[in-house]
Amino acid sequence: MSGKAGTIGNAPRETTVAAQQAAPETALLRLGDQEIELPVVVGSEGEHAVDISKLRSQTGYITLDEGYVNTGTTTSAITYLDGETGILRYRGYPIEELAAHSDFVEVSYLLMFGELPSAEQLDEFRQGLRQHTMLHEDIKSFYSGFPRDAHPMAILGSVVGALSTFYQDSLDPKDPSQVNISLYRLMAKLPTIAAFSHKKSIGQPFIYPRNDLSYCANFLQMMFAVPTEEYTVDPDFAEALNLLLIVHADHEQNCSTSTVRMVGSADANLFASISAGICALWGPLHGGANQACVEMLERIKADPDGVGKYVDLAKDKDSGFRLMGFGHRVYKNYDPRAKIIRATCNRLLSKMDRKDPIFEIAQELESVALSDPYFVERKLYPNVDFYSGVVYRALGIPVGMFTVLFAMGRLPGWIAHWMEMHESNTKRIQRPRQVYTGAQKREYLPVEKR
Ligand code: CMC
Repeated sequence: MSGKAGTIGNAPRETTVAAQQAAPETALLRLGDQEIELPVVVGSEGEHAVDISKLRSQTGYITLDEGYVNTGTTTSAITYLDGETGILRYRGYPIEELAAHSDFVEVSYLLMFGELPSAEQLDEFRQGLRQHTMLHEDIKSFYSGFPRDAHPMAILGSVVGALSTFYQDSLDPKDPSQVNISLYRLMAKLPTIAAFSHKKSIGQPFIYPRNDLSYCANFLQMMFAVPTEEYTVDPDFAEALNLLLIVHADHEQNCSTSTVRMVGSADANLFASISAGICALWGPLHGGANQACVEMLERIKADPDGVGKYVDLAKDKDSGFRLMGFGHRVYKNYDPRAKIIRATCNRLLSKMDRKDPIFEIAQELESVALSDPYFVERKLYPNVDFYSGVVYRALGIPVGMFTVLFAMGRLPGWIAHWMEMHESNTKRIQRPRQVYTGAQKREYLPVEKR
C-alpha cells in the first residue's frame, strides 16, 4: 500500500461524523482477479473520497452514478456543507453569522475573492459595482421583443446571454482583467435586468438604477418606484432582501452551479456560462421550487380539505405530487437556510403587523409532515424554498420573480465557482461518460425497404 491519504486544504477545525473515522490510505477494488489500489482524498473538514480518475486507464471500467449522488466532480474551497447535521459555511464562515452581521455585497466579495474584505477593499468593491449598474440603452429594445407574459427567468437568461454581444472586449476566460470587469458588470447589472423584466410584465416604464442606494435598496426602487411619485425604500424590506440574498449566495455543486462549471469548462465566456446557470436554476426541482411552493400553498389555501390531503398526496407515488420546498439531495436534516428564512418571516410580518395565511399554512404543513413517518424515515425537511416565498410576498414581489431573486442571490456563488475552476491547474473540459444500452450495430435499410 502506498502513501498517506491526500489531504486537501487545512487540517479539520471541527470533527464531523466522517472525520471521526480514520480514513484508510487507499481503497482496494477487486474486479475479477484484478486488484486495483485507488487513492483516498480527504477534505479539510474530513470528507473522504475515492479518487477514480485513473480507473478507466487501469481497468477499462468506468463508474456509473445517475444524478451524481455519490460523485464529486471537483475539489473546492468555497462552501462547506454537511447535510447530515445541517451545517453551511461560506469560506469557513457559518451562514448564521454572515446572515446576522454581513451584507450581500460583502458576502459576494468573500465568495469570489476568498477572504472578507478590509474596509477599504469593500468600499472600492461597492464603488466598482456602482459604476456598472446601468444597461446599454440598446438592451432595452430586447424587452420590446419579448411577449408581455414572458416568464422573467426566460428574460433573465436571454439578456444575460446577450451581454456577451455588448461586451465583446471581455470574453476571454483566460484573461484575469477581462474576467474581473465581467464580474463587476454581471453583479451590477443583474438587478437592473431583473427589475426591467418585472416592469415589462406590468407595462410600467423602466426605472433606472440609483447609485446612492445600497445594492438591495436600489433593486427595490427599480422594482417599485414609478416616475410620477416619490418612492422611499422601507429599510426593513431592504434588510429582509439582503438576508435572503445572503442565504442563497452559494451552495457548492448544486445543479445550476455545476451547469455553470460545465459550460465554463469548455472555455465558454462568463456571460454564456451564467446564462446557462440561470436556465438550470429555473427548473422546479431546483430554484423554481420557490414559485412552485407558493403556488402549492395557494392551492391548499383554496381547498377546504386542508393540508392533510396534500401530505397524503405527496406520499402517494402515483399522484405525481411532491411537497414543493421539501426534501433535499444533500440535507438530511433541517436546512439551516430555511431556519433563517422562517425567523425572517416571523420578524418581518410582525414588524409589518401583518398575518399571511400562506405562512400559517406553510407552518401547519411543516408540522404535519415532520411528524409523519413517510417524511421522518426519508429525512425530508423544509428546504430554502419553503419559506422564502412568504418573505418575497411580504415585500410585494410577484410570484414569477421569486426564482429571479434566487438567481440574484446565487450569482456570486456561480462566479466564484467559475473562477475557481479556471484558476485550477487541473481544469479539464467536463465530459462525463456513459454505459451504452442501445441497439448493437445493424444495417441501414433504405426507406422503401422498411
Ligand atoms: N415530497 C414527497 N416525497 C419526496 C419529496 C417531496 N418533496 N422529496 C423527496 N421525496 C421522496 C422521494 O419520492 C423518494 O422516496 P422513495 O425513497 O420512496 O422513492 C425519497 O424521498 C428520496 O427522494 P429523491 O427524489 O430520490 O431525492 P433527490 O435527492 O433525487 O431529490 C429533490 C431531491 C430536492 C429534487 C426532491 O426532494 C424534491 O423533488 N423536492 C421538491 C422540490 C424542491 O423543493 N426543490 C428545491 C430543492 S432546495 C433548493 C435548490 O436546490 O434549488
